[in-house]
Amino acid sequence: MQRVFSGIQPSGIPTLGNYLGAIRHWVPMMNTHECIYCVVDLHAITQPFDPATLAVQTREMAAALMACGVAPERCVLFVQSHVHAHARLAWIFNCVARIGWLNRMTQFKDKAGKDRENAGAGLYVYPNLMAADILAYHATRVPVGEDQKQHLELANDIAQKFNHDFGEEFFPSIEPIIQGVAARVMSLRDGTKKMSKSDPSDQARINLTDDADTIALKIRRAKTDAEPLPSELAGLEGRAEAKNLVGIMASITDRQPQEVLREHAGQGFGTFKGALTDVLVSHLGPIQQEMRRLLADPAAVDAGLRLGAEKASAIAEPIVCRAEKLVGFLPRS
Ligand code: TYM
Repeated sequence: MQRVFSGIQPSGIPTLGNYLGAIRHWVPMMNTHECIYCVVDLHAITQPFDPATLAVQTREMAAALMACGVAPERCVLFVQSHVHAHARLAWIFNCVARIGWLNRMTQFKDKAGKDRENAGAGLYVYPNLMAADILAYHATRVPVGEDQKQHLELANDIAQKFNHDFGEEFFPSIEPIIQGVAARVMSLRDGTKKMSKSDPSDQARINLTDDADTIALKIRRAKTDAEPLPSELAGLEGRAEAKNLVGIMASITDRQPQEVLREHAGQGFGTFKGALTDVLVSHLGPIQQEMRRLLADPAAVDAGLRLGAEKASAIAEPIVCRAEKLVGFLPRS
């Protein structure tokens, strides 16, 4: 059975983008693969964060994943900082990866902004830690949204260079799994930007915990154009915001955009947005209810994560020890 690894940062409430682009694909993979899913708190401290809320956000993210169907008894679900193998392998990868490779990472450029000299060093080496997350388990399949593709290419470069430098086919190559029409859900306010947990405007995203009124308001205010919906996909060209809403509708109702257009062709956005709100509210309602139920007993969530950390360590520890041996470290006696 192939091994899957994926992760999500506890840097806020998961968005509809996280859900449609990644989390939703994680659940069915648990039937066909050995799945390892991680709340990546080490990654979350690479950008400004509040130490007073990080632990709460980490537990909330775990509960959100569980509420979406990532059942801790059917996969390995854990918190990154609980398994030390990640940081150990990441350090080795910091020494394997080349600065020139990291300089090409578009996400670093976006996140560091103009004041690059002042960005944290952790943000710069972030992709090395991501490579360690996956390779510490010898995982080969990584379900992610489109925005992570470049990081996974870098992870493959790191694996190859490690194998070359230390003389063994030790790390496998990784295959990104980027699925469906919602692999890149865009901001509700600007169809050229991706929907993000950390967007300063809450109006730009749907959070998985938004109630019915908030969803209705955000969808009503979502940027669109004055044209009605076309009957063919070609009619969405150059209409990024319209295309995004059709893509969201298609993804959440498990259809192709063309089928959505067939049903809604000729409608104005007022009508279409009403239909989209109804679908979103009825889809997210049960997830929110389950999340509230789980968070009413935080100790039970933490117990699930403890079990996950034990299972994760049992897989990663021997792999990372072997990597350390290949590098030439003196084993602890
Ligand atoms: P993060 O926390 O930004 O996002 C988690 C997952 O959601 C996907 N995603 C989206 N998909 C579609 N449309 C969007 N607007 C959208 N926004 C986010 C992301 O592609 C991701 O799959 N670096 C990663 C976390 C990570 C990881 C890993 C992933 C750390 N180690 C190892 C895979 C394997 C990140 O910041 O994801």
